[in-house]
Amino acid sequence: MKDAFRTPDAWKDAFQALSEVGVDRRRGGYSRHGFDRAELELRAWFTEEALRRGLAVRTDRNGNLWAWWGEPGPDAVVTGSHLDSVPGGGAFDGPLGVIAALVAVDMLRAKGFAPAKPIAIVVFAEEEGGRFGVPCLGSRLLTGSIDADAARRLTDPDGVTLAEAVTAAGLDPARLGRDDEALAAVGRFVELHVEQGRGLVDLDASVGVASSILAHGRWRFRFSGEGNHAGATPLGDRRDPMLPASALVLATRRVASAVDGARATVGRLVPNPGGTNVISSTVDVWLDARAPDDARTRAVVEEITAAARSAAAGEGCELTVAEESYGDTVHFDTGLRDEVSGVLGGVPALPTGAGHDAGILAAHVPTAMLFVRNPTGVSHAPAEHAELADCVAGVEALAAVLERLAG
Ligand code: GLV
Ligand code: MN
Ligand code: MN
Repeated sequence: MKDAFRTPDAWKDAFQALSEVGVDRRRGGYSRHGFDRAELELRAWFTEEALRRGLAVRTDRNGNLWAWWGEPGPDAVVTGSHLDSVPGGGAFDGPLGVIAALVAVDMLRAKGFAPAKPIAIVVFAEEEGGRFGVPCLGSRLLTGSIDADAARRLTDPDGVTLAEAVTAAGLDPARLGRDDEALAAVGRFVELHVEQGRGLVDLDASVGVASSILAHGRWRFRFSGEGNHAGATPLGDRRDPMLPASALVLATRRVASAVDGARATVGRLVPNPGGTNVISSTVDVWLDARAPDDARTRAVVEEITAAARSAAAGEGCELTVAEESYGDTVHFDTGLRDEVSGVLGGVPALPTGAGHDAGILAAHVPTAMLFVRNPTGVSHAPAEHAELADCVAGVEALAAVLERLAG
């Protein structure tokens, strides 16, 4: 006799299967980036898991993977997330939503559910922007919210362009860009994700729904000075771009602290050439800025930019500033949010400061998010965690939502 289906076992088996892929021994945690070896291995794993379940797997023009239960679209109920990570990231951000979707399908099948509408599981490419710098790249390309030519020219830290990376992965770079056919199939989208904060801990709830996402952008500041010798160059003769770069870092905290609800971060600073006894010729600084609305986000960035310009001038350095990505505040569809919360017995709704593909999709189709409790609130770091019981509660919640929406 066939063993009875057990959600915790299915969850643990799938989670375990990913545990060795993309382990980053230098940074700790996982480094899995769009179309790199680890991410391709995870895609292969997903494809195999989907095929094993009899789902039809397709890769869209932008490298997003779709596994279909039923004929593709229209009015499909789509769930899923991403498999890439930030550099040295945790195990849950992204994979939780993909594994939960696969196991939710198992659960629904085990109980004999026959969907009236097609269900799809999507794996979006390069959600974190950890390789090419733009977050939610796969969903931005799909929806046309990034220009395809600009995307093709995006470059990773080794100088590989997105066009080259997708070619190596077997895609045609000329076909990157808005994909109306794929988008038209999506009736509603529901992404399950580990919570990136302690909202559910404080509410003593294992699962919640998302209400909104902060406005969010990334900017690259390049300070150019004069590369020279650290011992032989008198201090007064220097044009050291590390000085204004440091001023920018300090201004980031100072300016954001004065704006209600704002968060601004420098998490990446790259001196060139980067030698201990070398005055840098350039320093690149990436600013991540977020706030409850566009006006506050823009104001924060303007003030930081003004401080950076003044510091650059003071050191005789040049400064160029490029907006790498931007997305305004997302307010999730309240009808769908209330329906999802209602199916789950009225789970709480909470805002988030983290970006998601669901935030990109929300401008095009009714979209909702389910969050699973994170005991420490830590994410984008190896300590990111969710307890097994909460992951299982998340899978059960997602299955209930899919049953309602596709039934
Ligand atoms: C992605 O998780 C982001 O919020 O940057
Ligand atoms: Mn993330
Ligand atoms: Mn994520």
